[in-house]
Amino acid sequence: MMDRYALVGSPVHHSISPQVHSLFADQTDQVMDYVAIEVKPDEFIRRVRQLADDGFKGLNVTVPLKNLAWEFADIRDDHAELAGAVNVFKFDPDGTSRGYNTDGIGLLRDLTQNHGVELKHRRVLVLGAGGAVQGVIVPLLSAEPESIMIANRTVAKAEAIVRRVRKFGNLQSCGYEALADRTYDLVINGTSMGLLNEVPPLPDTVLNPGGYAYDMMYGRKPTAFVKWGQQHGAAKSLDGTGMLIEQAAETFWIWRGVRPETAPVIRELKSG
Ligand code: ATR
Repeated sequence: MMDRYALVGSPVHHSISPQVHSLFADQTDQVMDYVAIEVKPDEFIRRVRQLADDGFKGLNVTVPLKNLAWEFADIRDDHAELAGAVNVFKFDPDGTSRGYNTDGIGLLRDLTQNHGVELKHRRVLVLGAGGAVQGVIVPLLSAEPESIMIANRTVAKAEAIVRRVRKFGNLQSCGYEALADRTYDLVINGTSMGLLNEVPPLPDTVLNPGGYAYDMMYGRKPTAFVKWGQQHGAAKSLDGTGMLIEQAAETFWIWRGVRPETAPVIRELKSG
């Protein structure tokens, strides 16, 4: 039988992950199948067990299930362990679930390699403190920014991330109202507000002139946060298509032991 993989989350209908993995498989001559399956938090454990029992070799996990996935994993790699969030499962033949987090690697590669954004000595603001953000903080700190501020509606969740990983760099947390007098060179949106076509409540002055805006979400049209960046003087206002594809390439490597080329896939999906 063909090796099967799936994306689980809610919502997943908008996801381009099936297309990305299909393009990677064609490019590397891998015979595999990848589908998107709508799964809600209250059915997560049952559905994941079922998929593993049905012979699925691995899963991608997206909003809002990454913390549940962390709890579910029998074994976790270092990225996932530190993040407290899992976005990739690989199932061993005996049913053991291995949890990974490839979000941070995906974001870092897209920012630095694909878009030439220098993070060293930069002031970075990250919006949101959910499963998506948890995966990217330690990898971002590894690029030695001057500081990272995590702003979230529920400040306690941002504080919890800071407590967990502050030993890796200069990391702080706050609520949106505390951003009034502060400015940043790079503002990364990791909230799920884009699903509602909304952006977090940010002061107009928060992005330094010539700074960068990056939305971890992506869409066929410019996302609400990409438009926000364009309207607030960003030198580049980027969506998360490249992050998704880079994250998927790392996932593909974990599953298949083969590293696909991302540039042609990014070109194809950006033009489509
Ligand atoms: P993900 O896995 O995508 O991170 P999540 O764990 O559900 O999904 O996290 C969603 C993030 O978007 C959180 O930071 C959430 O803020 P809270 O922690 O305060 O819930 C943020 N978010 C979602 N809707 C929001 C809204 N209407 N206003 C502000 N923040 C919002």
